[in-house]
Amino acid sequence: MGAWAQLRALRRDFLGYLLDAARLGDLVLLRPAPGVKIWLVNHPELIFEVLVSRAAEMQKSAMTNKMVGKFLGQGLVLAEGELHRQQRRAIQPAFRGSVVAALSPAIEAATTAATRSWRDGQAVEIEGTMTRLSLLIIAQLLFGEGEGARGGTDASLQRAMERFGESMAQRFRSMPLPNWLPTARRRAERAAIEVFDHAIAKHLETSPSDSLATKLLALGLAPAEIRDHIATLYFAGHETTAKWLTWTLWLIARDPELGERLRDDESDALLNRVLLESLRLYPPAWLFDRETTTELELGGYAIPKRSTLYLSPFVSHRDPRYFDAPDQFCPERFVGGFEASLPRGAYYPFGFGPRNCVGRPLAELTARVALRDLLKRWRFSVDPKLELRPQPASTLRPTTPLYLTIHPH
Ligand code: HEM
Repeated sequence: MGAWAQLRALRRDFLGYLLDAARLGDLVLLRPAPGVKIWLVNHPELIFEVLVSRAAEMQKSAMTNKMVGKFLGQGLVLAEGELHRQQRRAIQPAFRGSVVAALSPAIEAATTAATRSWRDGQAVEIEGTMTRLSLLIIAQLLFGEGEGARGGTDASLQRAMERFGESMAQRFRSMPLPNWLPTARRRAERAAIEVFDHAIAKHLETSPSDSLATKLLALGLAPAEIRDHIATLYFAGHETTAKWLTWTLWLIARDPELGERLRDDESDALLNRVLLESLRLYPPAWLFDRETTTELELGGYAIPKRSTLYLSPFVSHRDPRYFDAPDQFCPERFVGGFEASLPRGAYYPFGFGPRNCVGRPLAELTARVALRDLLKRWRFSVDPKLELRPQPASTLRPTTPLYLTIHPH
């Protein structure tokens, strides 16, 4: 297909375009616009090479830097080389499972707060509620209890995050030229970043000593660096977790019997399988990329320096070589250590290697605690005929708003 035809196909249905391309081979050269070349990496071994064994020859792409650089600055998502290693060493301890476990009560409290207005028989809008919930949790982690955490989710900050999210969605719609943005949108994006920065500076002054923000201050980081870390954690942490919860609630609401079984599932074994399968079908981080820093050989092809490589968990997770009936929701496939039996680059909703998701323990805890709490208190239902289709934006979201009808247990 020529470049113009590819551009039309991509604009019409980006996910379908990638799935079609993946059928062509393990490493596919996309020409999604005249003069633009991108490699889709579509085999676990090659994905392993990119993320692990040849990680030193890769960096985040110029495309990603253009899209989110203004907001994220030099935080963990965009830092490279020695700076990235230093940051990882400084931040990772705050995200260990044993450390984030202390946030369980805060997650339950955030779930209660975000669903306080829910009433029997109501059709509630899920994505917005889950976004508020995950914002509250990130704020709690960063700013601790009290003023800071409440301020971390104040209306202006939430609006700033939403506006930034809208710009990102627009940039995705204009892929593969992500730097294109109408002037008004560009101005709105700049204003949103200013509001965000202002709110963060204010909350930093009031954070208690056990908050992550205060710990970053204690490391001797400059205010600008702390600002970049906070923006990065907000950006990387809240929309992803919110979408995971949204897709999972829809999958559960479609199957009332599954909802009942989950309620009786004391050990969380079934819930964990449902969560893994939800991440397989609807990985919030559905696409990320790398850029080669040298010329190299990959999968038998000579890849020039500064080439962009796409890695798509969405595409990989629907690969029939590794998943039977890949489009079907089937939590039972994760019984008996199935995940561990797969090659590492076949299922990677949190990435892997030196740049894997630092927030994974927090995301997993949030999903488990919030869903357990929600399922204990509410029964969710939805028209089983509703087909919620995924739409690619900075995270994978439903094309239409999701309303679920709720009844208390
Ligand atoms: C369902 C929830 C989440 C998903 C699916 C997810 C997914 C990912 C993926 C795929 C990467 C690797 C990207 C790459 O290699 O280029 C990543 C990196 C990252 N994630 Fe997450 N994430 C989630 C939640 C979170 C949370 C809750 C936080 C923090 C509060 C977080 C913070 C980060 C950061 C800072 C990085 C960059 C790590 C580095 O480059 O060293 N994520 N995430």
